[in-house]
Amino acid sequence: MAAEEPLVALRGIRFGYPGAAPILEGLDFALGGGERVGILAPNGSGKTTLLLLIMGLLRPQAGEIRIFGEPRRAEADFLEVRRRIGLVFQDPEDQLFCPTVLEDVAFGPLNLGKSRAEAAAVARRTLAALGLEGFEGRIGFKLSGGEKRLVALAAVLAMEPEALLLDEPENGLDARTRLRLVEVLERLPIPQAIVSHDIDLLTALCDRLLTLEAGTIRDVDGEALHRHLHVHRLGDRPHRHGLPG
Ligand SMILES: Nc1ncnc2c1ncn2[C@@H]1O[C@H](COP(=O)(O)OP(=O)(O)OP(=O)(O)O)[C@@H](O)[C@H]1O
Ligand SMILES: [Mg+2]
Repeated sequence: MAAEEPLVALRGIRFGYPGAAPILEGLDFALGGGERVGILAPNGSGKTTLLLLIMGLLRPQAGEIRIFGEPRRAEADFLEVRRRIGLVFQDPEDQLFCPTVLEDVAFGPLNLGKSRAEAAAVARRTLAALGLEGFEGRIGFKLSGGEKRLVALAAVLAMEPEALLLDEPENGLDARTRLRLVEVLERLPIPQAIVSHDIDLLTALCDRLLTLEAGTIRDVDGEALHRHLHVHRLGDRPHRHGLPG
């Protein structure tokens, strides 16, 4: 891999779900070593779709995906990607399927070839790092929404990924837990792409901020996105100010 090539590089991607018009068209995206990139865009704009394309869980109809310096086209190309890049799904239910929390978090490391003892040790360590000591024996489906989200994150982190894709990781977390999430992500020395509707979280964590518009990615860094109160309607939502006309 050339020194300057990003870890993840998508070029000219077109993707539409079967029987529907493309939702991504001419999309370019890059995630470089060590950077945290935030993606803030409306519901239905294609954020989750983009993360699924990077993991090879969907295939583009046009364009090129290069990851770790190699073109990724066929299923076999993506097996390595899924081993080395972690995706925290938007819905933790998609990620958790074992009876207990410890089994769920140990599942990935076991799959990567670690022994039972090693997998359990890394799972316990990861749970502790997320403030989830004592959760090991809990029944997965009985956890609260926020607890499930943290366990899903633990399950991905326990695989010690080289890069992390997070799909609305803060969703449903209380303020204190969100702060813990920010601290955990800040300490992780791996590139991260974070999809979120929480501007404060993204600005706290990210080096670059992107949005999805009309199927392509646009840089919104120069626009100084921030949350503040207005005297006009809908002033507490992200929006642009400009001169009329
Ligand atoms: N499996 C599917 N089959 C058909 N259409 C789909 C499928 N999954 C998503 N879509 C559609 O594709 C578009 C993009 O969906 P996607 O889930 O990527 O959006 P998103 O930006 O992640 O939205 P949100 O912020 O609500 O999570 C939406 O219009 C959605 O209805
Ligand atoms: Mg989504």
